[in-house]
Amino acid sequence: MKTSKLLLLSVLAFVVVAPSASARKEKKKPYNHTVVEIPAVMRQVIPVETAHTQLILRVQENGVLQTLHFGALIADPNAYLDYFTYRSDDNGSGPMAYPTAGGRYVGEPALHVKYADGYHNTELYYAGHEVHEKGNVITTEILLKDYVTFLEVKIVYDAYQKEDVIVTHTEILNGGKQAVELQNYASGSLYLDADKYYLTHFHGGWADEMQMDGELLTHDTKVIESRRGTQVTQCNNPSFLVSLNTDRLEETTGEVVAGALAWSGNFRLSFEMDESGRLNILSGISPYASAYKLAPGQTFVTPDFIYTFSQRGAGQASRNLHAWARNYGVYAGGQVNPTLLNSWEGAYFTFTTETLLRMIDDAAAMGLEMFVLDDGWFAKDYPRNGDDAGLGDWEVNTAKLPEGIDYVASYAHDKGLKFGIWIEPEMVNPQSNLAHAHPEWVVQSPGREIYQSRNQWVLDLSNPAVQDFVYGIFDNTMQLSDKIDYIKWDCNRIVANAGSEYLGAEQDRFFVEYAQGIYNVMRRLREKYPEVIVQCCSSGGGRVDYGALKYFNEIWTSDNTDAFTRVFIQYATNLIYPACVMASHVSAVPNHQTGNVTPLKFRFDIACSGRLGMELQPRNLTEGERALADRCIRSYKQYRDLVFTGDVYRLASPYDGDYYALMYVSQDQRRAVVFAYCTKYQNRAVGAHSFRLDGLDPSRKYKVTELNVDRSSWWGSGKVHAGDFLMNGGFNPALLKTFDSGVFYLEAD
Ligand code: GLA
Repeated sequence: MKTSKLLLLSVLAFVVVAPSASARKEKKKPYNHTVVEIPAVMRQVIPVETAHTQLILRVQENGVLQTLHFGALIADPNAYLDYFTYRSDDNGSGPMAYPTAGGRYVGEPALHVKYADGYHNTELYYAGHEVHEKGNVITTEILLKDYVTFLEVKIVYDAYQKEDVIVTHTEILNGGKQAVELQNYASGSLYLDADKYYLTHFHGGWADEMQMDGELLTHDTKVIESRRGTQVTQCNNPSFLVSLNTDRLEETTGEVVAGALAWSGNFRLSFEMDESGRLNILSGISPYASAYKLAPGQTFVTPDFIYTFSQRGAGQASRNLHAWARNYGVYAGGQVNPTLLNSWEGAYFTFTTETLLRMIDDAAAMGLEMFVLDDGWFAKDYPRNGDDAGLGDWEVNTAKLPEGIDYVASYAHDKGLKFGIWIEPEMVNPQSNLAHAHPEWVVQSPGREIYQSRNQWVLDLSNPAVQDFVYGIFDNTMQLSDKIDYIKWDCNRIVANAGSEYLGAEQDRFFVEYAQGIYNVMRRLREKYPEVIVQCCSSGGGRVDYGALKYFNEIWTSDNTDAFTRVFIQYATNLIYPACVMASHVSAVPNHQTGNVTPLKFRFDIACSGRLGMELQPRNLTEGERALADRCIRSYKQYRDLVFTGDVYRLASPYDGDYYALMYVSQDQRRAVVFAYCTKYQNRAVGAHSFRLDGLDPSRKYKVTELNVDRSSWWGSGKVHAGDFLMNGGFNPALLKTFDSGVFYLEAD
């Protein structure tokens, strides 16, 4: 640890300036209005530092906590002690660390509280702070108080030293005697100061998720918000990148701030450029229909807001987030998960035990490591033979699978494969015993239609009885066989006419308690099943967030398995989320979602840049295709640790040009794998494109081998090349036709 940090730690060891009752004496004003006196504090700087970045907060002499800097590390943060902006106080307040509705502040509030007397003002003042160090994480907790209402906010900053990531949340305590209503309660605020802010964010829809979008921010507020209740990330994502002093997203250069909210419910990110030109980023739970009543003495803990700063463009920002995710943010992050064959696109609802056994035979023969039985295996009275019945009735459909699940799972295990199974526990089909037995468990609003979507309704996870039931679905499914290694957790619709019979008059709690309900269930499940691999599917891309990833090992990024469309989805997903969580499957052509026909090699090369799987009927592959599949699966096992644990370097963006290319480099820079794809035909005059490899040691020599081909697309394959040659334009494989692709393995001698 740096000396400055040591010094600060000893000086700042918990200085609580809790005001005594006498300190809160009232002083008379001429207009007969009494104003509570704020305890005097000393101006001081509170730095929140990582190895290369720094958030500098300052307690003003009036007790307000401000954010003065977030960016590169400044050796002496006390340089900010006397920093002065020449800005008049009359124009609203300065950059408060946690801006509240009230006082002089007129911008978007992080916190907006309505009190029992009907007033809306909160003014938070510094009341002390603590710093703790635990290995790689330095935690700074700053206590702020409103001396009129006795509301307290503790802002917690966890600074991950190695990863250069800060994770913040707040704990809001109602210290008063009457209930209050939290109308806005963001997890955090982040002020930035630059001449220009280029925002990159994500939009899309089903089978078209995580499309990159970007714009130069102008004055006022840009909001990214989801009000969908479930599947909250299908159309946007609680994450962003802001590039400073530029009007585009740069991969390798420039200052970039990237962040994400760890919350699987309605979210809201706002980007407000105020009249001074500063940008305030707020990230938190969406306040939509969610005013939260806080009883006296009660504390609300907001979800984590994760952010990082890079001076090397979006690439370094992603690497910081990914490293944090692998080490802390993803369940069993960095663990190498098995390759698999999933039954969905190969069999849909139409299978027998025999179909499954033959698929298992083929998966084993191709060298895959797990078989996943998807939708269609359950419900007796309302059998799940299509998407119109059965959800809710989680018993094996013995008419379809008379030998049961254990028989199939054991067959897979005997063949050396793991076994996984699909559930969609948050949902119910009207055609099910569950819908008849527990109509009160369905999300609904009195007198209003309970709309169906994919012929199903949503179960009310804000109700603890429903949480127990959903826990039971997973738990009982695990009892079907002691050979279940993987659960695919689906969630295929959004909430409509939101409402909970259980919550009665407290409907404002619905959206928050639904999301907390999922976490309650997952927390319990993880205690009982720490080893089982759980995929967060959610219709593909519907629950892609760091809140879910605390419990889930991986995400199904999209129901769209077309390799060409996946180029764009995976590129954008990987800006924020690491490759180890991206499940990516090779499927049949013409693709079932888009009708596109792409070569099998291209499909494999795309899927191999994430967690490789297949989702087709292997019997339909030709002999030649089977041989290629075997080869690609075999070679994947040689380098996949790099995909799961290496650092990503993006070499070409499909959003910018005719190629997509990326590479993963081992932490010791000795090994790497490069994936390169051509997305547009190159004419003869253009010839081959030079990719500048990145992240290698320039002085080392690497043997480069193109995998899965008899004749390489690159003249340099099979030879040894210096790192600086590869990183400065020497690598130019002839990927000239649309859907040409190559995977290159690099090993230092
Ligand atoms: C969703 C999932 C698919 C598949 C089907 C089954 O659409 O995203 O992968 O599991 O449900 O019904």
